[in-house]
Amino acid sequence: MISSYNRRDWLKTGLYGLGAVSLLTNSSPFDLKRRHKDVVRLSHNENPYGPSANAREAIIQSISKGNRYPRQAITDLKEVIASKEGVQAKNILITAGSTEILGLMGLIYGIQKGNIISGFPTFDYLMSYSKNFDSEWIRIPLDKEMYPLKKIEERIDSNTKLVFICNPNNPTGTYIPKSDMKVSILSMAQKTPVFVDEAYIEFTEGGINNSFAHIAARNPNVVVGRTFSKIYGMAGLRIGYAIAHEDSIKVMQKYFMGRMVTPSVTSLEAAKVSVGDDLFAEKSKSLTLEAKQMVYTAFEQWAVKHWRSHTNFIWFKTNKFLPGIYGSLEKKNVFIRTYSHTPGYARVSIGTKEEIQIFLDELGGLIA
Ligand SMILES: Cc1ncc(COP(=O)(O)O)c(C=O)c1O
Repeated sequence: MISSYNRRDWLKTGLYGLGAVSLLTNSSPFDLKRRHKDVVRLSHNENPYGPSANAREAIIQSISKGNRYPRQAITDLKEVIASKEGVQAKNILITAGSTEILGLMGLIYGIQKGNIISGFPTFDYLMSYSKNFDSEWIRIPLDKEMYPLKKIEERIDSNTKLVFICNPNNPTGTYIPKSDMKVSILSMAQKTPVFVDEAYIEFTEGGINNSFAHIAARNPNVVVGRTFSKIYGMAGLRIGYAIAHEDSIKVMQKYFMGRMVTPSVTSLEAAKVSVGDDLFAEKSKSLTLEAKQMVYTAFEQWAVKHWRSHTNFIWFKTNKFLPGIYGSLEKKNVFIRTYSHTPGYARVSIGTKEEIQIFLDELGGLIA
């Protein structure tokens, strides 16, 4: 275990990730000093390895295009995504992060009043936004931490405007296999539109083969949301997209603020090269898996209840630790996530192995 003083110095050097980094990039994206001074940030499900070296290079090369509107870059990115997903460009809407898609769906279905149904806890932005328009949010508790598809379907009524499904689910990291989801989603979609948030789908074992992209492209009642923030490590660059039937895309465009030109040309170019960068994506995934394994091992040793994660974060119970672990970790500059709506649980994002080691060292000192 590294002492606090040494560890901080070590962080400051930015050297700790070099072994793994050199596989991915020329420069060190792990230099926390540059990004978050002295802080181990395991609170936002960010990918510590991105953006990839190719994405950085694309940004540099595209700076000179900064005087032009990004329409061509948007068209190009749609083509690249469409060919990877096996859909057509007309099935894609590119936005500044998938948050914009969630807001758009929250607006379209929120202003219709009625209700929106989701599992709970889940990533709530769509519903919290729709509530601004007096839409009711019906929260169905997760079933042993799994998304409660059957109960959601049973709850649909004549006032239901949308069902929100997050798979894998944030904050639990749990995942329902596509084969098990398909019947439910198709059946729900006969009654009401269904939005499937797949922000973490690339971290699942089958990756994008588990996506509902194909179904969404054909079924006007299914919309899929995806992002470059997670597997491609581009959270600050803000690129996301929806995959949907072309009629649904047209409706989304109608409500879209910003004339469909919200992403910057530099981010679009970075996204374009990232789509084909399987080496980077696979490396991100395998390094995440290794760091995740460190958490599982410690949690098993400490008998901490946790859930197998299909994402880049782990959900766990905090009852084995002294009260107030968030505050205690914060004092050590280690940030995780707790929620007022779910006391007794916490979520830790999977950073580098070195960051996870720091987290585990500090957390180990808080065992009750
Ligand atoms: C499930 C889920 N969906 C969507 C988002 C939004 O991501 P972004 O706007 O960066 O694409 C997040 C962010 O953490 C998320 O966890």
